[in-house]
Amino acid sequence: MQRLNLLATRLTLSLVLTLGTGLGNALATDPPGEPVRVTNYGEKAPVTFDHAKHGEVACVQCHHNQDDGQYKCGQCHGEAATEEAPKLKDAMHEKEDGKCYGCHFGPEPQAKKLKCAECHVKR
Ligand code: HEC
Ligand code: HEC
Ligand code: HEC
Ligand code: HEC
Repeated sequence: MQRLNLLATRLTLSLVLTLGTGLGNALATDPPGEPVRVTNYGEKAPVTFDHAKHGEVACVQCHHNQDDGQYKCGQCHGEAATEEAPKLKDAMHEKEDGKCYGCHFGPEPQAKKLKCAECHVKR
């Protein structure tokens, strides 16, 4: 009996460890090395986003649902707003400090001022 209990404890422990490690890996996702084509609903020239140019910004500042392992903004932010989430355009044009427009748009951008066509690059 004693032995069986010990075995059960070991099994539980290894299961916990396996799950724990899996989760650790999921959270430690590397940013894509190549620029990514941002989800696009077709109206405007698609935006290419380069993680390498944003190395100073914490992942969670943009990937606010990172804990769920979801990195595609377009999974939740659609072409039109829903009751839960603003549409993709509004999420990406958010003027608050630390968001795309906060850093790139308006009279006093936090970082580098970009014109429409510098994000929506026609190819
Ligand atoms: C300044 C904002 C910003 C920051 C900071 C940022 N990302 Fe991203 N990331 C994006 C955008 C925008 C996309 C494209 C989402 C889409 O297409 O819906 C993206 C896409 C991704 C993807 C999915 C790539 C694909 O196409 O499947 C991964 C994985 C990812 N980011 C990881 C990271 C990690 C890890 C960090 C931190 C080291 C990070 N990102 C920091 C904005 C950001
Ligand atoms: C798993 C679903 C999901 C993903 C993935 C997601 N969002 Fe969101 N987002 C939401 C929801 C729901 C809201 C509204 C409630 C809130 O603010 O959390 C929101 C709100 C926002 C807002 C409104 C302002 C704010 O911060 O409250 C911005 C900006 C935003 N998201 C940007 C992004 C960007 C950029 C990405 C990808 C890098 C992204 N979101 C990925 C679901 C998501
Ligand atoms: C915290 C500030 C910050 C945020 C937030 C931010 N950026 Fe940037 N971004 C920068 C800086 C700084 C550069 C310039 C990097 C360089 O020149 O090497 C840059 C460069 C860029 C460029 C390339 C322009 C060029 O030099 O060719 C694009 C496109 C871009 N960002 C789009 C975005 C998008 C889309 C978002 C939101 C998902 C975003 N940025 C959020 C700071 C930010
Ligand atoms: C900092 C980068 C950035 C700047 C500057 C910017 N946008 Fe965007 N915009 C985005 C991103 C990212 C999206 C969502 C991805 C996409 O549509 O390709 C978007 C989406 C849109 C959409 C919705 C289209 C769609 O396919 O969902 C329109 C329309 C748009 N932008 C117009 C403009 C106009 C007009 C300007 C200049 C006044 C501008 N944008 C400046 C990043 C930017």
